Amino acid sequence: MQGCCISFIPKRYLHATVGLMKKIPHNLKGKSTADQSWLLRQLNDPYVKAAKTHNYRCRSAFKLLEVDDRHALLRPGLSVVDCGAAPGAWSQVAVRRVNAAGADAELPRGTVVGVDLLNIAPLDGALFLSSHDVTDPVTHARLQGMLPDAKADVILSDMAPNASGFRHMDHESLIAMCLTLVDLSQKVLRPGGSLLCKYWDGFLAPTLQKRLSEVFGVVRVLKPKASRKESAELYLLAKMYKQIK
Ligand SMILES: C[S@@+](CC[C@H](N)C(=O)[O-])C[C@H]1O[C@@H](n2cnc3c(N)ncnc32)[C@H](O)[C@@H]1O
Repeated sequence: MQGCCISFIPKRYLHATVGLMKKIPHNLKGKSTADQSWLLRQLNDPYVKAAKTHNYRCRSAFKLLEVDDRHALLRPGLSVVDCGAAPGAWSQVAVRRVNAAGADAELPRGTVVGVDLLNIAPLDGALFLSSHDVTDPVTHARLQGMLPDAKADVILSDMAPNASGFRHMDHESLIAMCLTLVDLSQKVLRPGGSLLCKYWDGFLAPTLQKRLSEVFGVVRVLKPKASRKESAELYLLAKMYKQIK
């Protein structure tokens, strides 16, 4: 069973009743063991419940909220590229934090552009490039056309390939995708900008970390509380973009 504990979620994100009772689904008959454990985990996951309560499109919103609360990446007026944005929870968080929908007329209005291979349902304040591959230079050019002055202050990447089940292979393909974010940074990221990217831990993680350290002033490994303990998922937060070398 998943390892998240309700006390990890900041109180403001939680409804009072979340996590009080463990639910057992009635209709597990005919489902594979893997499907049964996924269902059980979803039903008893406080972040899944909190996402529903707070109208986030999925539980991953809490990972970005936690990272941003601690590391102050997003603020009103900034421009953000959200890579692997579907279904759109990180974009929801980014829209609110950079004031991209203009919810606070007193504050500067930011920009959020999300990209995904999949379709992303419209979101007030965000621009989406659905059916686009983040690793493709054509997508990079389209992104430049959508950003104010063709520049972003923050690149977020929660993208992940469909898992094959072969841990090494999945690790390698996600690291390869993350490395293309260095090219994207070169094209769109402002000097001083930040990159937050998800990867699956493994033997190539030091290669990614080293590459990011060449072009960013500070690089840290993060494991947000909302990231399941049993998952190999980790995040690299790279700040103070220098310029490509
Ligand atoms: C874990 S989901 C992202 C969840 C998202 N952060 C949210 O909060 O809603 C990973 C996404 O990465 C996308 N993805 C994988 N490879 C991609 C690529 N090369 N280009 C764009 N999106 C990609 C997948 O289609 C998937 O929607």
